[in-house]
Amino acid sequence: MSRKPFYVTTPIYYVNDVPHIGHAYTTIAADVMTRYRRMCGFDTFFLTGTDEHGQKIQRAAAAKGLTAQELADRTVVNFQELWKALGVSNDDFIRTTEERHRKVVQYIFATLLAKGDIYKGSYEGWYCVPCETYVPESQMGEERTCPDCGRKLEMMTEESYFFRMSRYAEPLLAYYEANGEAILPKGRYNEILSFLRGGLRDQSISRTTISWGIPVPGDEKHVVYVWFDALINYLAAVGYPEENAPWKKYWPVVHHLVGKDIIRFHSVVWPAMLLALGVNPPKLVFAHGWWTVEGEKMSKSKGNVVDPFEMVELYGRDSFRYFLLREVPFGLDGDFSELALVQRRNADLANDLGNLLNRTLQMVERYCGGTIPAAGTETELERDLVELVAATRRDVDSCMDRYAFDEALKSIWILVGRGNKYIDDTMPWKLGKEENTERLGTVLNTLCRVLRTVAYLVAPFIPDSAARMVDQLGLDAEIIARGEGIPEWTEDLSGVSVHRGDILFPRIDLKEWEAAKAEREARKGMLPDPGDHEPEIEVEQFRNCEFRVASVLAVEPVPKADKLYKLELDLGYERRTIVSGIREFYAPEELVGRKIIVLCNLKPAKLRGVVSNGMLLAAETADGKGLALLTVDRDIAPGSRIH
Ligand code: ME8
Ligand code: MG
Repeated sequence: MSRKPFYVTTPIYYVNDVPHIGHAYTTIAADVMTRYRRMCGFDTFFLTGTDEHGQKIQRAAAAKGLTAQELADRTVVNFQELWKALGVSNDDFIRTTEERHRKVVQYIFATLLAKGDIYKGSYEGWYCVPCETYVPESQMGEERTCPDCGRKLEMMTEESYFFRMSRYAEPLLAYYEANGEAILPKGRYNEILSFLRGGLRDQSISRTTISWGIPVPGDEKHVVYVWFDALINYLAAVGYPEENAPWKKYWPVVHHLVGKDIIRFHSVVWPAMLLALGVNPPKLVFAHGWWTVEGEKMSKSKGNVVDPFEMVELYGRDSFRYFLLREVPFGLDGDFSELALVQRRNADLANDLGNLLNRTLQMVERYCGGTIPAAGTETELERDLVELVAATRRDVDSCMDRYAFDEALKSIWILVGRGNKYIDDTMPWKLGKEENTERLGTVLNTLCRVLRTVAYLVAPFIPDSAARMVDQLGLDAEIIARGEGIPEWTEDLSGVSVHRGDILFPRIDLKEWEAAKAEREARKGMLPDPGDHEPEIEVEQFRNCEFRVASVLAVEPVPKADKLYKLELDLGYERRTIVSGIREFYAPEELVGRKIIVLCNLKPAKLRGVVSNGMLLAAETADGKGLALLTVDRDIAPGSRIH
């Protein structure tokens, strides 16, 4: 039997930044969907990758004193490592700087140019560098700011190639009218349709103002605009335009998962490009919502960016994956809070799921020597439960078809809850005491089969825990990954030896957690801000700084300035005075006699009426609450130069 193909993609992420919870979200969602389809026997292909060209990357690299390629090579590793840490089972990882990608971009550019769908013109407009996009007057904020990121726009004029997108408004509209499910959620679909009804403008798709990009074939002073370049990754990774390549099989079923920020690129620009190429638009573009953190927009300056690596380290990847997909309906905005994550983990994972497994296996051990007993006659109670198992499987399947991850999980947890209630109702411990072996066998056998189904159903979301569940049930931990589908209820489990292991999700004590979190945050305040880098300098610039060892002779507070000390220094060849803001950190007697490091050729400055002739060196924590003076590690004469 030939397996049904299923192709899913995430956006390819910019490499100017470290991965955060938003990137993790889309990628985990794509992973869960892929794992579900794979488990159900589909022939799946799951693609993610990185977007490495464009002005944003070029500037970020320059600011760090790196070439763009060096920056990309460094940061791509963060994404690749994160996907491993999160248990993401992507089949491929594409980088837009790869040859296989460049080739396809140039092929598509040349093809559309020859067809007249690309032409040369000139472009003038307001441009947002961080977002890599021109912003029309109608959309810009007051004071010419970007409607998306709020930053200042820059005026740019350039000769440019244009993609004749205007041609495709009508065909696209017709396509979407015939395919009402090609954009989800429905609200986004309606939004895109009304946008298309307003007609489309041709798109500038090349730049002469930057060099970091794929050269336009035959006109190398232009590079291809980063979005035109990036979107093509979805075809390049599956071998377009080769005849016998995977895209032939996978393209007709591709699902693009994206954040709502980039829906237009995916459901207007990209499908128009595809229509121009004579390739079908994507089967589905699903736009999910936006995460805030503790009610606030996530931003570096606020310092509230959620680091997925840290979440995995603290709570394990399954808890993090479960939380992201259970907390918020896919498609809506949501708010992330660690407390909410911990509470969900305790309630849903530790209490409901973990207990069902643990209670059941304990009884199989205690009453049946660790071997799953045979089932006897079914009663109403079993028939109800079996019916619920079947209904849950159907329900989960239809939820997954709609990307309703949260509803699928709710449905599974109704079954888990009913499993726990079934234990309370049947009271197997009583049956054990009464030595009612037939009834006890029925109950425990039924519970094990419920648990087996549950393990399969939760596997796409919490794959490690699901593997531990089947292992504890005495089955091969690898069975789910084989893609043979969820076993039928009638497949018996009697005679299988269970081996109860460690509990799946140890409960997190909230008091201890709060204390640990406070400590963590205090420590974080001490960490240097890694975003704080200066541009590269020449060695001459460093040589120009005259650093010397100075010995502290006397220290006195500067009147009416509670942070400042006046320090008398001995430089060997002269004495001098400097003023320094270290009063909160050192008492005068701690300083006198110390050998410190001073920048001697700094222009004198008057601080609170005292002239300071230089500056001492100290290390400071990011929050400014910790400070340590630089000194020398063995005795050396005052005035010695620092090199
Ligand atoms: O846009 N909440 O890359 P990017 C939820 N390179 N998801 C979020 C999020 C948040 N707060 N922040 C980011 C680009 N995302 C382009 C894409 S595709 C051909 C090119 C997720 O690094 C979400 O999936 O800015 C969003 O679409 C993506 O990260 C943007 O990542
Ligand atoms: Mg972005």
